Amino acid sequence: MNDSPIGVFDSGVGGLTVARAIIDQLPGESLTYIGDTLHCPYGPRPIAQVREFALDIMDQLVASGVKMLVIACNSASAAVLHDARERYSTAQGIPVVEVIHPAVRAAMRMTSNHRIGIIGTQATIESQAYHDAFAVLPEVELTAAPAPRFVEFVEQGITTGDELLAIAQEYLAPIKAAGVDTLILGCTHYPILAGVISYVMGPHVALVSSAEETARDVYSELTRRNLLSAPLSTPTYSFNVTGNAAEFRGLARRFLGPEVTGVNQVEVHR
Ligand code: DGL
Repeated sequence: MNDSPIGVFDSGVGGLTVARAIIDQLPGESLTYIGDTLHCPYGPRPIAQVREFALDIMDQLVASGVKMLVIACNSASAAVLHDARERYSTAQGIPVVEVIHPAVRAAMRMTSNHRIGIIGTQATIESQAYHDAFAVLPEVELTAAPAPRFVEFVEQGITTGDELLAIAQEYLAPIKAAGVDTLILGCTHYPILAGVISYVMGPHVALVSSAEETARDVYSELTRRNLLSAPLSTPTYSFNVTGNAAEFRGLARRFLGPEVTGVNQVEVHR
């Protein structure tokens, strides 16, 4: 048994989709969330810089005493997963869960025609992390497209409107043309735009959000390592950002729910 919190981070509000799924599946677990809003978006930045930012945030979470790290960001998962496993799991016994492999697993369960689409930030698409993950599944035809401006809309709390719809039609055109039956939302911000994405793709295309599947990995890892909190524990939630706390609080309450009572500002070191 271990009552320490689970550490979850993203560049902004996107990781809250993963935090929500963890709270739903593990209501007795405490959570410490950091949104690196000072550096958001990660997507257009060089991978090496995303790696630096992500390691700084994870170092802070570990110093605060978390029992597990959840990289609730595809761009950071693509940039830092291997280093993070070595630095925290191997060296300090703190398990690291990420969002890319859970999404691949869920997509494989859903597809019938094995034509799968993936949208993500520039950093995620250019890293080829999804291509690498699907490489062992030669039956899959993968069509990838970056959808960089989606993050901007989500961070502003905009989920409807003509401008967003036009951009969604442009980004999703190559994926639609490929005849996919399954589309991976390869950025944790995108589930917040599931309405417009589904409207453009049509009702027969299944959307895969890594949130629920990632929360299942969190559940299994905690169980396997005997790290679950005591049954019926009362959880505590701590939400933190590196940028403006007031702006984040409004959006976080809207996207995650009433568990967000306060938001603190934390320092960055890099
Ligand atoms: N939510 C993030 C992701 O999954 C990052 C978005 C961004 O900062 O560009 O990639």
